[in-house]
Amino acid sequence: MKCYKNLLQAIGNTPLVRVPFDSPAKIYAKLEYLNPGGSIKDRAALFMIQEAERLGLLKPGGTLIEASSGNQGIATAMIGAMKGYKVIITVSEKISEEKQKTLQAYGAQLIRCKPTLHLQEPESYHTKALEIHRATPNSFMLNQYFNPTNAGAHYAMLGPEIWHQTEGTVTHYCAAAGSGGTVSGAGKYLKEQNNKIKVIAVDVPNSYRSTDKNPQPYKLEGIGVDYDTPLLDTQTIDDFILASDDNAIAMLKTMARHYGFLIGPSSGAVAYAAAQIAPTLTKNDVLVMVFGDSGRAYLTKNFYS
Ligand SMILES: Cc1ncc(COP(=O)(O)O)c(C=O)c1O
Repeated sequence: MKCYKNLLQAIGNTPLVRVPFDSPAKIYAKLEYLNPGGSIKDRAALFMIQEAERLGLLKPGGTLIEASSGNQGIATAMIGAMKGYKVIITVSEKISEEKQKTLQAYGAQLIRCKPTLHLQEPESYHTKALEIHRATPNSFMLNQYFNPTNAGAHYAMLGPEIWHQTEGTVTHYCAAAGSGGTVSGAGKYLKEQNNKIKVIAVDVPNSYRSTDKNPQPYKLEGIGVDYDTPLLDTQTIDDFILASDDNAIAMLKTMARHYGFLIGPSSGAVAYAAAQIAPTLTKNDVLVMVFGDSGRAYLTKNFYS
């Protein structure tokens, strides 16, 4: 019998599954919603917490603090519960009710902040988390938006998994960009194996980056470059594809009803981007896209009806 010794060992090694898009190429989805916390963010939170413990920044009885669009907070809350840390998560009020309730189910203290257009506004959930961190003794803020270990987790884990699962045949890698850690970290690893691999980041048209610093509101969660992120590696990324609320939400329905993948909004945006590229590929191409979380976390948003 092959068993994991604890929950943390069950993070990663998610399935890579063929998606039968109309294309001469092979298109695969990396099902990150099958991580124990339900998203890609289990990987980043695990690496950041383990590194903080190793460096002595986080001690027994300490408090984990994080600003999150939901999933990074859920991963932090899950790992904190398992390891016995107190957890405080700040979120924007715009995130789904399901994600907010999941955070509370893990015992995290949830601080809801007004949605802002830029991550570093004084009212934002990121700024609030920094304030709480400064005021809380023996606390560690994971700081996903600025901590290079976020991208480092995907360089060390997600990239090698994709490389091995495709037996080195991957030609295109496509992932949503929020902090940019997922697309840049795994993208860098893949490019080091074969510099011809195309790395495609998916952003929203209303984000700070896409609008040349003039952001507008959007509905999607877990995607959108809302600040000057040091984690977005523009040397590694070959192309950005933009997916609007309407593009991504329409794709959510198609993916659930025609293909059987019940995915979250950032994955809908990624699937939209992959569907744009698919007809241009050749039979020797292998495109891997990342499905960051599940549609079950957004059912009350009525994206699927
Ligand atoms: C479901 C989902 N997909 C994609 C992302 C974006 O990942 P990254 O912050 O690594 O760019 C996030 C970030 O929270 C997410 O929750």
